[in-house]
Order: sequence, then structure tokens, then C-alpha cells
Amino acid sequence: MEHILSCKQFTKQSLEELLDLAKDIKENPSKYKNALDGKIVAPIFFEPSTRTRLSFETAALRLGAKLIATENAQNSSTKKGESLKDTIRILNGYADCIVMRHNEDDSAEVAASVSKVPILNAGSGKKDHPSQSLLDIFTIREKRGKIYGTKIAILGDLVYGRTIHSLLELLTLYEGIEVWGLSKECFRLPNRYKEMLQAHNIKYHECSGFDELPRDIDVLYHTRIQSERFEGDFGKEEFVINKSVLSKFLQNTMVMHPLPRLNEISEDIDDDPRAVYFEQAHNGVPIRMAMYLTVMK
Ligand code: CP
Repeated sequence: MEHILSCKQFTKQSLEELLDLAKDIKENPSKYKNALDGKIVAPIFFEPSTRTRLSFETAALRLGAKLIATENAQNSSTKKGESLKDTIRILNGYADCIVMRHNEDDSAEVAASVSKVPILNAGSGKKDHPSQSLLDIFTIREKRGKIYGTKIAILGDLVYGRTIHSLLELLTLYEGIEVWGLSKECFRLPNRYKEMLQAHNIKYHECSGFDELPRDIDVLYHTRIQSERFEGDFGKEEFVINKSVLSKFLQNTMVMHPLPRLNEISEDIDDDPRAVYFEQAHNGVPIRMAMYLTVMK
């Protein structure tokens, strides 16, 4: 694989190869500690990040690579008007791989169009967040033992939540998936994603309350309202997962969230074994190590 820009580029086989590699890295970290000796990675983030940036950096360091980075891409020559393409052309002379987060939907594809070194998309606009979805599906497989037949509810901001869009793309590679959507009316899943699910024979149920979700659902995947991506104030999340809500679901239901959270998930469930969001974030390291190895071997 030359670049990782979108979940759309994965086949079931290439996805499972990457997930298997991440599993081996997680189980045998010492095997990989010098795998990228002598390589240089340039993380370039035009939007804020804690998890994605720091876990991509940890992943590079754990493989023996070195990092070059501006503290914030807004402090780079972009501020003086340099185009994204020119920034990438310049970094091609410095680094062996570029990890980029950008606010424009097609930024990863624009970067890849001029890059001779691999681009790893660390989030582009409202469209793609492949590294997040890879760690999400890795966590589902790790916990359930399989992805086949997953019953998942997606909650929160289904319009601007790029982690939702990318995760749905990966789920279309599997049989027996069923999806429930629970959000305020203004954040309902856009038609193009409903059509994508339909084209893969995946049932989608639009809901207006927790009581419409099956008690034996496998995953409750909540997301934050992405207020930085639109004008206006649509208020706080109404569908909050707390102790009382979670008590309605079975013991093997997983509560997931890409984080950061606002009010979507109450801290009163953090110690419940079904709350896997911190473990999910930690899986970002082996997944991102596997991503580097997939594009730089
Ligand atoms: N999940 C996620 O993308 O978090 P950050 O914005 O902190 O990287």
C-alpha cells in the first residue's frame, strides 16, 4: 500500500492483514523495536489533536524511527500562504513518511497527488479518519473475537463525525452487520452513507430513543458534536450514556467513543467493564505501528 488516505481503499484481505499485524505488534512489541531504524517521520497537524498525534508519534518511536515536527502546522509557512502541495513537496526532501491532519475533506488526496513518500491520513475534514476506524474495528474484533454479525448503534454527530463515516466504510466489508442510528434530528446520518449501507445489504434503523435499540446490541459507539465544523449552536448531546441507560443493555455490550468526549458519556460508567473507550484509544499505538509498516516496508 502506497498511502493510507481512506477506509475505502481497503479490501477485507488487506484490512485483516493490517489487523493481524497490529495484533502481533501488541503481543510481541520487542520484535518490532528496530523495524524503522534510520527512518524519519513528519507529523503535520493543521487541527488540534491529542490521541492521534501522540499515538502516531509513540508508534514511530516504538519502531525506532525519528520525528520532525512543527509544534502546530499553523506556525509553519502555511501561515505565509504556502500551498499544501508545496509544503508536501518540501517535506518529501526531509522525511520518509508524512502523517497529516487537515480541515479540508480532500486534503489527504491532494497531499498524496504530489508526494513521493507515503501519506498517512490522520483526519481530513468531515470525510475520513482511517487510523481511528482501524483502531475501532481492531478493538471490536479483539473484544468480540470477530467482526461478522456486529450489531452497532452509532450516536451523536452522524453528519460531521468523520470517525462514523470511516467506520461504516470498514463495516461494509463484513457480512451480518446491522446498524442503528440515534442522534438529534439535525445530526442524522447523511443519505449517501445510508445508500452505501443499503448497497451492501446492511440494515439501518433510524431511532429517536435508547428504548428502540436492542438489549443485546454489541456496540454503542458515541461521538461528540463537531461544533468546530459548522456555524450556529445546536446545543448539547441529548442521548447521554450513563449508569441508568447502560443498565438496560447486556454485560457484553461495549461502549466506544473516539474521544475527546463532552457530555455524551457520563463518568459514572468509566469503571464499568463495558466502557472500553480508554483501551480503544490505547489500541491506537499498535494500529499506527502497523500502518507505518504497511506503507514503509
Ligand atoms: N479521536 C481523535 O481523533 O482524537 P484527537 O482529536 O485527540 O486526535
